[in-house]
Amino acid sequence: MARITLIGPGAIGSTLAAWLSRIPEHDITIAARTAFSTIVLEKHDGRIETAPRVLTDPAQARPADWVLVTTKAYDSAAAARWFTTCVDDGTRVAVIQNGVEHVERFSPFVDASRILPVMIDCPATRHSPGHVTQGGPIHMAVPQGVPGTAFVGLFSGLDLDARETPDFVTAVWKKLCLNSAGAVSAALLAPAGIAHHAGVAEVLRGIVRECIAVGRARGAVLGDEIADEIVDRMRRGPRDASNSMLADRRAGRPMEIDARNGVIVRLGREYGIATPMNALMVALLEAAEL
Ligand SMILES: NC(=O)c1ccc[n+]([C@@H]2O[C@H](COP(=O)([O-])OP(=O)(O)OC[C@H]3O[C@@H](n4cnc5c(N)ncnc54)[C@H](OP(=O)(O)O)[C@@H]3O)[C@@H](O)[C@H]2O)c1
Repeated sequence: MARITLIGPGAIGSTLAAWLSRIPEHDITIAARTAFSTIVLEKHDGRIETAPRVLTDPAQARPADWVLVTTKAYDSAAAARWFTTCVDDGTRVAVIQNGVEHVERFSPFVDASRILPVMIDCPATRHSPGHVTQGGPIHMAVPQGVPGTAFVGLFSGLDLDARETPDFVTAVWKKLCLNSAGAVSAALLAPAGIAHHAGVAEVLRGIVRECIAVGRARGAVLGDEIADEIVDRMRRGPRDASNSMLADRRAGRPMEIDARNGVIVRLGREYGIATPMNALMVALLEAAEL
């Protein structure tokens, strides 16, 4: 049995909470910003419905064995307000977000040794609070070790892929390569089909090549072919495929610009690697948010 508090029940958070509800031994609490009562997860072969305990006031939370944070990166400081009541000496904090700075984002709020970074690959969409669609399989990767083994154990027996990896750095930078390219769709308000334009494809490759260069400086093992693979993947998929930065911009929400492109510029500067394409994307998207 594990006491689990999930902070941020959006697309990813509600999807994971629905799956975890299938394990009756888990005691699950949802820490939400917006109140709701039921989670309905639609998936290709059916649905999972659950009525979890939902709190909206950090004062009502109690210490948990695991805190799973699934807010957007830009809501990290607000999410951490829950830590005062749901984190105690034995709590582990799994940060399930995009980007490569999971630990840095939360170490101002909890000892870094208790933070487990999680890479998640899962196309999930939220229609309304608690109502989500899982559009494909769930893959999660965590660093190999005792906390990683315990995290994977939380999902034991469920129809999803959660595993430890000996090279977490490469796993998150590979994901960042894909995510960094998403900035172009967000800037143009155009879905993935835009990759069929030869000039745009070259811009996408340029953004990803900068990400590869900075990722290698951080120790990730990234092949040159990733840039072409990402363009090919966007061209092969549905022309109207969105990404979460595009969805956020369309919905008038903030975007994870810093976690997905700003980080490449910041770390590039540290290593003396030029990142003009990502800097351009950051400037355009920041201006679009004004
Ligand atoms: N969606 C995907 O397909 C996908 C795939 C892979 C990775 N990711 C990554 O996973 C992370 C989560 O993304 P998402 O798409 O699930 O985001 P999302 O749908 O926008 O959900 C974020 C949730 O966090 C809640 N929240 C914000 N501040 C909070 C606070 N202080 N306390 C409690 N809850 C709070 C929001 O509340 P409200 O209900 O009030 O908005 C919302 O429910 C991001 O880093 C994203 O890049 C997403």
